[in-house]
Amino acid sequence: MTNVILLGPPGAGKGTQAKRLVVERGMTQLSTGDMLREARISGSEMGLKVAAVMDAGGLVTDEIVIGLIREKLQHGGSAGYIFDGFPRTLAQADALGDLLSQMGQKLDAVVAMEVDDGVLVRRIVGRYTCGNCSAVYHDETHPTAKPGVCDSCGSTNLVRRADDNEESLRHRLMEYYKKTSPLIGYYYAKGDLKRVDALAKVEEVAAAVSSVLDRG
Ligand code: AP5
Repeated sequence: MTNVILLGPPGAGKGTQAKRLVVERGMTQLSTGDMLREARISGSEMGLKVAAVMDAGGLVTDEIVIGLIREKLQHGGSAGYIFDGFPRTLAQADALGDLLSQMGQKLDAVVAMEVDDGVLVRRIVGRYTCGNCSAVYHDETHPTAKPGVCDSCGSTNLVRRADDNEESLRHRLMEYYKKTSPLIGYYYAKGDLKRVDALAKVEEVAAAVSSVLDRG
């Protein structure tokens, strides 16, 4: 059982790498962003409450996201968890440590995905995903083989996120530097932090992440 956090700013490639680990290692991706987007689509009270915050690029409350992760971990039965976009605050990091220890588990690695802000706008503004299977694409670097059709599942429901615009991205980056980047020091001090060059090609980043996991 391997549990890993993918830590990085919006557009660092956390979702892209998490999906590869699911396929290659049978791990379970826990993306709080995906969970919140599902809650919005379902029209639940919580989903409606968080919609405006997400679209503006702010952080949803710790209470809500910790609750989402707690619920998923209670299901158990995984070859390991990939925490994608969680934790994002020190309170979330402490809560995750407590939840894992209550389950008799631990974190094996925290992968800091290092990028330059300059590339993030291009990555975010060009991104689209499959609304059916969540496969991630990019207008320039990774378009679907057949325009308008998902390579993975054949769906034509390709969508762009409401927060994938420059204004919202600026706010998301600000939130990242203010509230999430302190986690780099937090996990470094605990001895869990491993740094990966996330500016490299997707396959090279994947190889670097795999090597972190294999070293343990
Ligand atoms: P969330 O969904 O987690 O978004 P994010 O952290 O902003 O990250 P992204 O999904 O935008 O980027 P990514 O790193 O996954 O990049 P991707 O692989 O897609 O959160 C959304 C919102 O939900 C937050 O703003 C907040 O409101 C709320 N939220 C979520 N979690 C929360 C929490 N814990 N606490 C509070 N609020 C929370 O890649 C991006 C693009 O680049 C793609 O097109 C991809 O094809 C391309 N790409 C990827 N890797 C490479 C590469 N190596 N080279 C070239 N292109 C690449």
